[in-house]
Amino acid sequence: MSYCFTLLDISLFFFFLTYTFYFSFFFSPEKLLVLTVATQETDGFHRFMQSANYFKFNVKVLGMGEEWKGGDVGRSIGGGQKVRLLKEAMESLADQEDFVVLFVDSYDLIFAGGPEEILRKFQQTNHKLVFAAEGIIWPDSRLAEKYPSVRNGKRFLNSGGFIGYTRYIQKIVNQWDLHDNDDDQLFYTKVYVDPLQRVISGLRLTIVYEVLLKFGKERVRVRNTVYNSLPAIIHGNVNTKVNVFFFFSSMNNGILYSLHSHVKFTLHHGRGFCQLFSLSKQEFPQVTVGIYIEQPTPFLTEFLERFLSLDYPKDKLNVFVHNSEVYHEKHIQKFWEENKDVFRSFKVVGPEETLTQGEARNMGIDLCRKDLSCDYYFSIDADVMLTNRQTIKLLIEQNRKIIGPLVTRHGKLWSNFWGALSLDGYYARSEDYIDIVQGKRVGVWNIPFMAHIYLIKGHTLRNELKERNVFVLERLDPDMAMCRNARDLGLFMYVTNRHEFGRLISIANYNTSHYNNDLWQIFENPLDWREKYINPNYTRIFTDNILEQPCPDVFWFPVLSEKACDELVEEMENHGSWSGGRHEDKRINGGYETVPTDDIHMKQIDFDKEWLHFIREFISPVTLKVFSGYYTKGYAIMNFVVKYTPNRQAYLRPHHDSSTFTINIALNNKGLDFQGGGCRFHRYNCSIESPRKGWSFMHPGRLTHLHEGLPTTNGTRYIAVSFIDP
Ligand SMILES: *[C@@H]1O[C@H](CO)[C@@H](O)[C@H](O)[C@H]1NC(C)=O
Ligand SMILES: *[C@@H]1O[C@H](CO)[C@@H](O)[C@H](O)[C@H]1NC(C)=O
Ligand SMILES: *[C@@H]1O[C@H](CO)[C@@H](O)[C@H](O)[C@H]1NC(C)=O
Ligand SMILES: *[C@@H]1O[C@H](CO)[C@@H](O)[C@H](O)[C@H]1NC(C)=O
Repeated sequence: MSYCFTLLDISLFFFFLTYTFYFSFFFSPEKLLVLTVATQETDGFHRFMQSANYFKFNVKVLGMGEEWKGGDVGRSIGGGQKVRLLKEAMESLADQEDFVVLFVDSYDLIFAGGPEEILRKFQQTNHKLVFAAEGIIWPDSRLAEKYPSVRNGKRFLNSGGFIGYTRYIQKIVNQWDLHDNDDDQLFYTKVYVDPLQRVISGLRLTIVYEVLLKFGKERVRVRNTVYNSLPAIIHGNVNTKVNVFFFFSSMNNGILYSLHSHVKFTLHHGRGFCQLFSLSKQEFPQVTVGIYIEQPTPFLTEFLERFLSLDYPKDKLNVFVHNSEVYHEKHIQKFWEENKDVFRSFKVVGPEETLTQGEARNMGIDLCRKDLSCDYYFSIDADVMLTNRQTIKLLIEQNRKIIGPLVTRHGKLWSNFWGALSLDGYYARSEDYIDIVQGKRVGVWNIPFMAHIYLIKGHTLRNELKERNVFVLERLDPDMAMCRNARDLGLFMYVTNRHEFGRLISIANYNTSHYNNDLWQIFENPLDWREKYINPNYTRIFTDNILEQPCPDVFWFPVLSEKACDELVEEMENHGSWSGGRHEDKRINGGYETVPTDDIHMKQIDFDKEWLHFIREFISPVTLKVFSGYYTKGYAIMNFVVKYTPNRQAYLRPHHDSSTFTINIALNNKGLDFQGGGCRFHRYNCSIESPRKGWSFMHPGRLTHLHEGLPTTNGTRYIAVSFIDP
């Protein structure tokens, strides 16, 4: 893979050994002055200054606060205004002829080496004035033939950076008498292609290349693999600005890592990390939260619970919910009723408003933008499972205009950001993407695209983004629109993986035609399924040996959660066609059941695949533990929920099961939901009369374990039963 960057690498590698020593006598770093033009303090400008300060460059910024008249050159500085400003600046340097001036762009450029190194490399070129070169001739291709030919490197002049002795630069810029919106590169080019001028000015182009970026483990520095050199200045080319993000973000853990530590250091003393945690609750920033439910989303109740459990003062939160799904109205209604007085304000917009996603998201942003007391806007989509309760605080502490926490699909490389953009503005994988997603590189990353969850400063909404219809742009989807807007404005977006924050769930294949649809998510979102439906004490079967044996070879252990039990019962009651406990049963082979129960089969609610998977995932390991060496593939043709109630069927007479072993899970509470019930094993004269909700029995099906269901005397008792390995 090769990436296009203009690397102003002022090193001719083979000169190194001979001259390094000799020249370093003559020039002290104070003799190097960096001049740059920046009319606004963009994020890119701050990044430039950070790197300049880090290496202790003497930088003079020209044109700050001035109106930019240099023409439409996008975010990069260009145009004649730069030359005019430089000309003015050079006049004041007239008496400092022995100075070396480095003139560079700033919005898309960083230093990767210090003044000594640059001076040394400059002297090694043995020229008076050196420009960067590039492969494309711009802006006047007719001048191509006038360029001297080169044996290697790039042939054409690039005005994004040059270095030279003051008087040689003066000689050139003093010729400037054009307008601010004339082209600076053309101006310098004309000087260069004039052989006489070239000699007078001592002008020379440096080798510039397309490079392979290689990142080492420790201190990362970009290596130019063509010339095997270490560039001291890195310029993200405007034409390939898409990759600048990747490039600069990759630097975070390298040379810029120290820069970032430096920034963090300042934050500690400003409104940063330590301060926020030491603030009293009244002083916490006010945050407007936008919650977006834009499609049927599994585990929405859990999402809302997690949101409620965030560690942030609720009276500092203004909550805005957009729900576009009729299916979720019942969940949102409940959430609203329970929490309407909890937050500072609470607004819900439902599907009846038929807002587009872009409109809804703009509405959320506007709530913060128009409320001067809104310090931050925190946007979160319903498919983000936040597991870190400190998320809002942690993001605020990073003190960025736009920042999101890294969230990934469990066990996948899918995440909420892109490391790079393709030339047409869509996804491209950056070289460090996988390392960031997997946490092998940790930091705060400047990225070109993110979605699902992010925090934006209210100040940024009211300033840089003031005029923008943030989520509606051309025909882009809302997230793409937001990120394009930010990029166009030179607003940096960051994603942090400095902490674990949570994960993205899958919203694909969410079938909402059942009553409790999350039960069916065991394949699509196995982790969330497990958290919701498996008993929290389940793992202790293996770690703390909490498994009990109330009768010989009858094992008893927790497996389902309260929610699993309740939802399964609800699902069955919602389905409603209980068999009535008749002997004639069309659902089974032969159509006759000798010991019939009043039941509904898992197959009838289309839950057999999921239930068998549950048996394989969660019952098989227990079987292996108690019946050593017996591995079940979880094959079971009879899976059903039984209902015992005095006025229908209250008990089951002694019988054997048609299974190798049987599981029998209590789905509700004795004493609370019913009286009586239990199970009796005749051979051992042993009864279990107090079944526990969510706990399962596991016992051999026949021969030794003749058993009966004891009468339920009041209320309704539910159990889930499977005959395994028939
Ligand atoms: C959703 O579930 C219902 C009931 O089980 C089934 O009939 C339907 O085919 C399913 N839809 C999809 C898209 O899988
Ligand atoms: C898990 O076990 C602990 C200790 O026995 C008990 O206090 C707790 O209620 C159990 N939790 C559930 C959900 O059963
Ligand atoms: C069964 O156990 C009960 C007490 O648990 C006892 O009263 C009864 O005599 C036992 N029956 C047999 C046949 O051992
Ligand atoms: C039967 O259950 C109902 C409620 O489910 C309760 O009010 C009643 O007291 C119970 N009767 C007995 C005899 O436990």
